[in-house]
Amino acid sequence: MTSKRHSGAFTDPKTQALLQKSNTRLASQPLGELMAESGRFEACSRRFEDLLLDFSRVHLDGEALALLLDAAAASDVAGRRDALFAGEHVNATEDRPALHMALRTPEVLEAVGGEEAGRVREAMARMFDFAATLGQGELPGSPGEPVTDLVHVGIGGSLLGTQLVCDALDEGDSRLRVHFLGSVDAIRRERLMAKLDPASTAVVLVSKSFSTGDTLLHGRRLRAWLEASLGEERAHRRLFAVTSQVERAGAFGIAPERLLYFSDWVGGRYSLWSPVSLTAAALIGPDRFRELLEGAASMDRHFREAPLADNLPVLSALVGVWHRNVCDYPAWGCMPYDQRLKLLPAYLQQLIMESNGKSVRADGEPSGLATAAVVFGETGTEAQHSVFQALHQGSDIVPLNFVAVARPDHDDQEAQDELLANLLAQLTALAAGRDAEATRAQLGDLDEAMVRQRSFAGGRPSELFLLDALTPAALGRLLACYEHKVFVESVLWNINAFDQWGVELGKTLAPGIQSALAGGDVEAGQGLEGLLAEIARLRK
Ligand code: F6P
Repeated sequence: MTSKRHSGAFTDPKTQALLQKSNTRLASQPLGELMAESGRFEACSRRFEDLLLDFSRVHLDGEALALLLDAAAASDVAGRRDALFAGEHVNATEDRPALHMALRTPEVLEAVGGEEAGRVREAMARMFDFAATLGQGELPGSPGEPVTDLVHVGIGGSLLGTQLVCDALDEGDSRLRVHFLGSVDAIRRERLMAKLDPASTAVVLVSKSFSTGDTLLHGRRLRAWLEASLGEERAHRRLFAVTSQVERAGAFGIAPERLLYFSDWVGGRYSLWSPVSLTAAALIGPDRFRELLEGAASMDRHFREAPLADNLPVLSALVGVWHRNVCDYPAWGCMPYDQRLKLLPAYLQQLIMESNGKSVRADGEPSGLATAAVVFGETGTEAQHSVFQALHQGSDIVPLNFVAVARPDHDDQEAQDELLANLLAQLTALAAGRDAEATRAQLGDLDEAMVRQRSFAGGRPSELFLLDALTPAALGRLLACYEHKVFVESVLWNINAFDQWGVELGKTLAPGIQSALAGGDVEAGQGLEGLLAEIARLRK
């Protein structure tokens, strides 16, 4: 790999022009050729503890990577990272820090200091107590009262991370059954209530704002369901809340001793490290949940201390901006080759698209740059049998992020080999493709039209995260790595990764429309008259 150094912030037109020049230069060297170069894997992979990042199938060489690293340095990625960890108000539009790392890295919490750090420590300690009690099948605060089922109610960041941790790390040995309710759609809740016994069910309402309609409506229905069968006093002992708005939860009827607080400087999509994950800690056990936090803390240290060129979140972010801003690819797919990570794409959709789906810079000026790609994903090999046709031969190139686990927690070596063989085959097929000559050589006598149908252009890039094993610590490292990658991308794009104003407009329109659905006046100018009339007709 050659390495010439240039400098300039990522948004600088000169830097963009240099990166484009590199891209044009690389166009004459197929990705299949580049990835087969000797020493390519060593040059384009980095390990941190049990997590390997392999970006040898990204269409980059040493010169292009050096340009990206210079752009990162000139964009003050290191300075912005230090400001993040120091608790500066990096979330400028909400005038607050983004300190989710304080939940897992003790030195960051020490830097927060004061009364707030004490509140956080107390809430985390209580979360671990509650989790231990629930895990033993008992109701926290009411010794001897049984809990067989825990219903977690929450949406977005108040659901996706916790649910992912449960799915990924559940070893199937807990006496507790956990259930999740997100969308306000009542169907799942009604079916769940029909099969649960209120006398052995606990409900945890998780909402940072404690004003999210979906969560509060489920909460009201579940409270009424518990009350109808147990009476008010016994019912309320089975209701818990996790929120940063303690007064609102109190007004809902949650007693202070059943309320777990988290700070408003923990963004919803960054909150899985907080008491938001009570359900996960109860299911997998407090010790394994602590290991998850420690794994994430080790990634925090790596992110702060490793040089940019060896820093996993930084490198993955540079790959991200190369694909988005230089190659102009509009989408990004996450393909975990481990069924326990089936919910990873859904979690990443929110993390990436809610954090970095912005068109206005942190200083309020239009960005002018492409920001977050459209995120989607599915587990391999299921994805191979559904969406991979387009990824191999479709008209758009979609960079992929593969995640795999070397040592599975089962003894079926043949199944694991088949899974990993499929993964490695996809990586190669996407990147190298199969030209017409190779197609003819492999498939024999085909006419030219059929040769075109059966050929693969290749040049489809991917990066791979390979975990030694899916331990709680490794999952913590992986998820924290994604969080920091998203942050680095936001620095390069000069946007605020921690607000989410784009979700507000729809929320303000919904109440008026709801009253129209209930027979009230239809507001003119929304173009909804026809649909509302049709819905009213169908409901009659
Ligand atoms: O509407 C978006 C959002 O605010 C997310 O940012 C958040 O994770 C989710 O809704 C749930 O919000 P809350 O935890 O306040 O109920």
